[in-house]
Amino acid sequence: MVSQRRIPERHHLCTGRREAGPHFYDLFTKRNLRALSLLWESIQELSHVPTRELMSFAFTSMSHLASKMTPTRPSRPFSSFWAINSYWVPPSYMESNVWMLFESAVNGRQGLVSAKQDSNRTVTKWKEAKRFGDLQDEANIFLKAHNTLELQEIIPDDSVDYVFTDPPYGGSVPYAELCTMWALWKGFKTNYDDEITINDEKNFEYYHKMLQAAFRQVYKVLKSGKYLTVTFHSMTLRSGIQSSMPLSLVGSISRRLCISLQLERPQRDC
Ligand SMILES: C[S@@+](CC[C@H](N)C(=O)[O-])C[C@H]1O[C@@H](n2cnc3c(N)ncnc32)[C@H](O)[C@@H]1O
Repeated sequence: MVSQRRIPERHHLCTGRREAGPHFYDLFTKRNLRALSLLWESIQELSHVPTRELMSFAFTSMSHLASKMTPTRPSRPFSSFWAINSYWVPPSYMESNVWMLFESAVNGRQGLVSAKQDSNRTVTKWKEAKRFGDLQDEANIFLKAHNTLELQEIIPDDSVDYVFTDPPYGGSVPYAELCTMWALWKGFKTNYDDEITINDEKNFEYYHKMLQAAFRQVYKVLKSGKYLTVTFHSMTLRSGIQSSMPLSLVGSISRRLCISLQLERPQRDC
């Protein structure tokens, strides 16, 4: 089920650690790969679409925990986690029980049912808009995964009251590559091209330029005098990021600092 596809080359980042094999299936024991495949197939056979989507969501929240990328921990012998931002297999890993992981992903304290109950309490009335413009009518939520560099394709200028953004932290977390783990189950292709990041093909200059371009897009859609909050957390980009826009606005950024800036967009004269 997790195809014959190879792990992206630039993902062999595991200095000093035993690397995973070249294929995604190398990241799982045969038993867990089989159990996950059975589970995924059963979920895909559900005819009620919202239930199928919710169960697929629960599946993607736990499938990586059923992999071999989960180190054993003497302090917590019955649980583990995907410990580093890469595809790797630690010398001593835990083979977790797929059914128990899925049960917990659905019914556990931080599981889907509890999350849904919470969101039902918080968001009492909602109707999804197909386009941003539909928000003027009854619809009150517009959800879209879209390239920030093309934000203006879907959101008109001067139309947003508040922006909260959490841009990529240089290349410290290779989001697109790590996402491939779930993309393979879900059957979609990861888009590496649009990713604003730093890796073997994209250097800091690229990252800086694209981040600036992304903020320019955000600036355009934000109404005059309204606010933008940026969170940024990097332990490795210290010197680079100080010259980076808009983070340079805070002056100095120290290691391990997680910042939240509130930037007011100046009122425009015209
Ligand atoms: C720091 S993470 C934000 C994570 C998010 N706060 C969350 O909790 O899931 C940065 C995100 O920006 C995404 N990203 C990178 N380039 C992008 C682009 N051109 N357009 C839209 N998103 C992009 C990355 O894939 C990653 O998911």
